[in-house]
Amino acid sequence: MEALILIGHGSRLPYSKDVVSKIAEKIKKKNIYPIVEVGMMEFNEPTITQAVKSAIENGAKRIIVVPVFLAHGNHTKRDIPKILGICNGEEDHDHNHGHDHHHHHHHHHHHHHHHEDEVLEIPEGIEIIYREPMGDDDRIVEVIIDRALGN
Ligand code: NI
Repeated sequence: MEALILIGHGSRLPYSKDVVSKIAEKIKKKNIYPIVEVGMMEFNEPTITQAVKSAIENGAKRIIVVPVFLAHGNHTKRDIPKILGICNGEEDHDHNHGHDHHHHHHHHHHHHHHHEDEVLEIPEGIEIIYREPMGDDDRIVEVIIDRALGN
């Protein structure tokens, strides 16, 4: 069985999880994936680990993970692959990482909000496919023009 996991950033405020959850509900209604889960990078639950565990418990053998981020950053390139156990480690030692988030200055040393202590044990026979973020998709261009118009 195939599962789709959407990864959101997370926030102390509810909006991040709310929007990713609503997107997940809309995708669920399309009946493309029998399992659709949300996993939050930080601040909120379910965590990415919880989402993957839930998908496996529900019978997923192939888990497609889409980061609901516009662009790649330290989370999509380093943190998420690490949590998913598909990290090649090449960016792990980048302590001088570009601070593309306001709250990341010490996160290698202080685990006050990241869920990165969690260890995800992927059982044999489970395939995890990690996809790309949104990028400069033409459909996003249309959404931005809509927002610019006040829609
Ligand atoms: Ni962050």
